[in-house]
Amino acid sequence: MAVLLTGGAGYIGSHTAVEFLENGIDVAVVDNFSNSSPKAIERVEKLTGKKVALYEADVCDKEKMREIFKANEFDAIIHFAGYKAVGESVAKPIAYYRNNIDSALVLCELMTEFKVPGIVFSSSATVYGVPETVPLVETMPTGNCTNPYGWTKYMIEQILIDFARANDFAKVTLLRYFNPVGAHPSGEIGEDPLGIPNNLSPYVCQVAVGRRPFLSVFGNDYPTPDGTGVRDYIHVVDLAKGHLQAYRHMKQGVAAYNLGTGRGYSVLDLVETFKRVNNVDVPYKIVDRRPGDIATCYADPAKANAELGWKANLGLDEMCRDAYNWQRKYPNGYRD
Ligand code: NAD
Ligand code: WQD
Repeated sequence: MAVLLTGGAGYIGSHTAVEFLENGIDVAVVDNFSNSSPKAIERVEKLTGKKVALYEADVCDKEKMREIFKANEFDAIIHFAGYKAVGESVAKPIAYYRNNIDSALVLCELMTEFKVPGIVFSSSATVYGVPETVPLVETMPTGNCTNPYGWTKYMIEQILIDFARANDFAKVTLLRYFNPVGAHPSGEIGEDPLGIPNNLSPYVCQVAVGRRPFLSVFGNDYPTPDGTGVRDYIHVVDLAKGHLQAYRHMKQGVAAYNLGTGRGYSVLDLVETFKRVNNVDVPYKIVDRRPGDIATCYADPAKANAELGWKANLGLDEMCRDAYNWQRKYPNGYRD
């Protein structure tokens, strides 16, 4: 018996692979490396001393996926594979709908064919759209997404809800991540965006190692304590452990969980913490707001705490320390 990690060579998938292997659970990874490197899996194997069954394939390719399902006995799928860049999704919406929706549909079809009961889906806080109040609770309405990427997450949640309604054997878990940052404390695996980073933490890391001259802080006139945007940053190792707990607690039907710390930090909180714990300068300039950004977003993680027995333990210091440790060790990510 093994767990299939789609997109398992990616940022969150590779950290999750480590947690599963360290807990004695065999994993298979399918990835087309559209946004990752096979090196990540080599490092996972080195860190854990365990083998990963690695398949290079597109999850949308049903025939190829069927061969992988035939060759293994999966009891669950953790579905990370997908495109995730918000801005790119506005420019290329159809590519996003095609890749993200098709991959989910193929998995549902093969789960039915091979009677694989469990699926844990990488959803996002973005499904809540523009929140009216914080913290965000799972019972709050979803939809009103601000970009095609967010809509793909919303639509896949709905597909999986309908899938579970129609199939008694199905156990569907929707994990709504907040803002994953940091890296494995070994510095061997981490976030490795292609091109100019869209997200705050990898941008800060690249400024800190001298790959970019300064950080642009998108607005300091939000209704927040220091005027910059507030988010719930969560260490990727805590997030990975959340998947392990979700797998262990899979149950018939559908359950959605927020995976966040429950604490919000501003852009400047993160920058100042990064500078302090790493003793490095991070020059920044305040620029205009980024279109589509919201002022404040953080989770109420009480449901995951209570039902999954999971809690984020690592703080902003560890997130900034581990992110920089990885970036310093491999300034060009997996291309080094
Ligand atoms: P990532 O890009 O590092 O990982 C995704 C992986 O999927 C990559 O290795 C990529 O090569 C692979 N992939 C994409 N399409 C594929 C396909 N059709 N077939 C096979 N492999 C494919 O991203 P990540 O940060 O690890 O995110 C993992 C998941 O979590 C994504 O679904 C993402 O939308 C979701 N998520 C991420 C964040 C975040 O901020 N990182 C937040 C919320 C949700
Ligand atoms: C965080 C804060 C920015 C970059 C996105 C997606 C979301 C989820 C996680 C997948 C904001 C500010 C950023 C920069 C800045 N992904 N910022 N300068 O926007 O909360 O969420 O990633 O599901 O769907 O929307 O994350 O890291 O881009 O931004 O000032 O160069 O940092 O304005 O306040 P965001 P982020």
